[in-house]
Amino acid sequence: MATPRTDLNAVIRQCITEKETEPFINAFIKRLIYTVAKDRYSATERDYYLSAAYAVKDLLVARWTKTQQEYYHQDSKRIYYLSMEFLTGRAMGNNLINLGLYDDCKKALEEAGFDLEALMEYEPDAGLGNGGLGRLAACFMDSMATLQLPGYGYGMRYEYGIFEQKIRDGFQIELPDHWLRYENPWEIARPEFIYPVHFYGEVQQYPLGRGEFGYRWVNTDPVIAMAYDMPIPGYGNNTVNTFRLWSAKSSRDFNLEDFNRGDYMQAVEHKSESETITKVLYPEDSTMQGKELRLKQEYFFSSASLQDILRRYDKVHDSLEQLPDKVAIQLNDTHPALSVVELMRIFIDERHVPWEKAWDMTTRIFAYTNHTILPEALERWRVSLVQRLLPRHLQLVYEINRRFLDQVWIHSPGDYDKLGRMSLIEEGTEKMVRMGNLCIVGSHSVNGVSELHTDIIRKRIFKDFYEHTPEKFNAKTNGITHRRWLLLANRRLSALIKETIGDKFTTDLYELKKLIPLASDPKFQKKWREVKQANKADFANFVEKQFGQVVSPEFIFDVQVKRMHEYKRQLLNLMHVVHSYNYIRRNPKDVFVPRAIFFGGKAAPGYAMAKLIIKLITSVAHLVNNDPLTREKLHVVFLPNYSVSLAQRIFPASDLSEQISTAGTEASGTGNMKFALNGALTIGTLDGANVEIREEVGEDNIFIFGMNAQEVEELKARGYNPMEYYHKNQELKQVIDMIANGFFCPEQPDLFRPITDSLLYHGDPYCLMADFESYLACQRRVADTYTDQKTWTRMSIMNVANMGKFSTDRTIQEYVKDIWHVEPVAINMDMDTE
Ligand code: IMP
Repeated sequence: MATPRTDLNAVIRQCITEKETEPFINAFIKRLIYTVAKDRYSATERDYYLSAAYAVKDLLVARWTKTQQEYYHQDSKRIYYLSMEFLTGRAMGNNLINLGLYDDCKKALEEAGFDLEALMEYEPDAGLGNGGLGRLAACFMDSMATLQLPGYGYGMRYEYGIFEQKIRDGFQIELPDHWLRYENPWEIARPEFIYPVHFYGEVQQYPLGRGEFGYRWVNTDPVIAMAYDMPIPGYGNNTVNTFRLWSAKSSRDFNLEDFNRGDYMQAVEHKSESETITKVLYPEDSTMQGKELRLKQEYFFSSASLQDILRRYDKVHDSLEQLPDKVAIQLNDTHPALSVVELMRIFIDERHVPWEKAWDMTTRIFAYTNHTILPEALERWRVSLVQRLLPRHLQLVYEINRRFLDQVWIHSPGDYDKLGRMSLIEEGTEKMVRMGNLCIVGSHSVNGVSELHTDIIRKRIFKDFYEHTPEKFNAKTNGITHRRWLLLANRRLSALIKETIGDKFTTDLYELKKLIPLASDPKFQKKWREVKQANKADFANFVEKQFGQVVSPEFIFDVQVKRMHEYKRQLLNLMHVVHSYNYIRRNPKDVFVPRAIFFGGKAAPGYAMAKLIIKLITSVAHLVNNDPLTREKLHVVFLPNYSVSLAQRIFPASDLSEQISTAGTEASGTGNMKFALNGALTIGTLDGANVEIREEVGEDNIFIFGMNAQEVEELKARGYNPMEYYHKNQELKQVIDMIANGFFCPEQPDLFRPITDSLLYHGDPYCLMADFESYLACQRRVADTYTDQKTWTRMSIMNVANMGKFSTDRTIQEYVKDIWHVEPVAINMDMDTE
């Protein structure tokens, strides 16, 4: 390899000085001319966005290099966050905020005749995730960088992210999200980091001597994983961490001889087949698909990430001795669970580490986060499929299981039922590998994402494991990065907060408590309300321009945005809408506090019930919005294509946040935190992190209704009969009958029957009927409170003031203290590292 004679670091230092002092507008124009290769005659708006993005990236690159060098220099312990999903959204605004350059840049561009916010609209969302789990991973990366932690996000570079949702005739249709159609200015291809990932083949045994055997995985079909990197800057510091995404390339690309020798067409076919591995994100949220391609994705991801992690370690260490002191790996759900087995395979088959030592290191390295207790979400893979795709890994799973069950037996001799429940293998006509069990056994830490969820893990779904190793289990309540969800999304509110309490809250969200004494201050309240009204007006304009719907900002903005799922109960919200519609028609002269109810969220393409509920929402909207008797008081909007960038517009404009899942079903929720941080009040059940939001903001500042998790369980144990509620409550009966009998779809009166059948005849698994009355009463309290603007504003301020706990800065600090044990590394740009 060539060694440059110039002192590269000195040159970098010189470049940084020049870059930092160069007026942004010059950098922007240079990028337009030299990188995008356009001039004033040929440049499109997108070209201007690209030029601005490249100019911003230039400001990150030097810090990025310096940060990575410093990690090597200090031989820091690194934390690797392995997640098959990262819902990062747009990068430009966030990068500018974290660099502290948002306003300066905006001004510089304005003076040159450009509108920063308009240009930012050209950036496609990086929609590499389905919902909460992926968005959490993105927030974590922001907090790790802000806390100066040597953190890496490892993900998949899906060519198609989460599908684009359109509404046609009231139904959801899905369009491919080809987010990489135009160049992605934030990513850097790293063709030097390529790793083979093997599939299929068979296992050969060979003698090692002294009666022992080694194993070789041979005749495999390799695919190449290639790295693409994106920079993740911290807020107000010099740290820039790496977000590394894997893309599948055919191994044929890297072996032209092979290509030439064989049948050209077949080689091309094989090439595109290999590359399908990172073609598309599976669009199911909280449901697992037993598809071979998905398992391939999971192994591809695990293997590439581990090879890269070990390469980095090997570069500066001669033995594996220190590996667990230098590497912490967090598994974001069970999707990367095969990493546990892959690391064992590398240790045993490739590095010839004895089993006990290999297992000790593995379990010290891995930690696992559980995200859901819904049975349909818990991953199980057919043994026959694993056998075919990953024969050596299956052997290792069996060996891990055998040794683990031996221990269980020592603790609970004779308890065959327990053995069956804790086994990594589920017996039955089709044997299955249980990924959750594998993660627990292979990790030193298992965490839930809220207190309640962790409690359910301990007492219900992983009870046996908790009894076996209670010390592994811990709660890490989720959070959100307030840099994106307040500073960037709500410029007005953050400006008001800054002028009132200073800007320490940007890195210490507990600082917001300083707003508490102002909660009832009339002058401050007035400013607070003005901010919300202005945000609502902006959003109303956007909705009119984008979707052609006119909504008055004087209405309560009542919002439920999240994935469409029966357990989240968008239907319960809609039942309240139908009831309000009936009420207004029956009592046209009564006072009714006007309300606009916004829904947004994608349904998995194969989830028929969720899709039908979308159609019901749009049908109800059509009727309500066009009825002269109701349209002055009630408005229903379905916002298509809910995404991170749309969410950034919604939260600042919301008055009421709907967090109404059946208690005991939502692991945490993080939308609930984003709403509250933007001054919306929550109507919700005691589910997920709502419980802790109530603790923080106080009972008086939140609208809680319905059964709690224990009551749901007890009701079900007693025998829940939804029909009772139907006959007992005339208002409920009317709502259900209207949906069932085609009131909202006269041309196809049976269309919505499956919805009401599920409530009445299929057991109403999410207890909508049981919670309806309490929900209605609570909504009445909401409306009453809204008419008292002083009280409402005080509550809104109290919500924001008490959001300190819900920053991912706090969450990450807890992971560091309890699980990762990594140290922050300060990056000083003036210092030479080498
Ligand atoms: P990686 O962490 O090995 O992927 O490398 C990331 C970056 O760290 C490289 O692009 C270099 O800037 C820096 N780096 C890599 N190896 C070394 C080293 O041995 N000493 C100091 N910095 C390094």
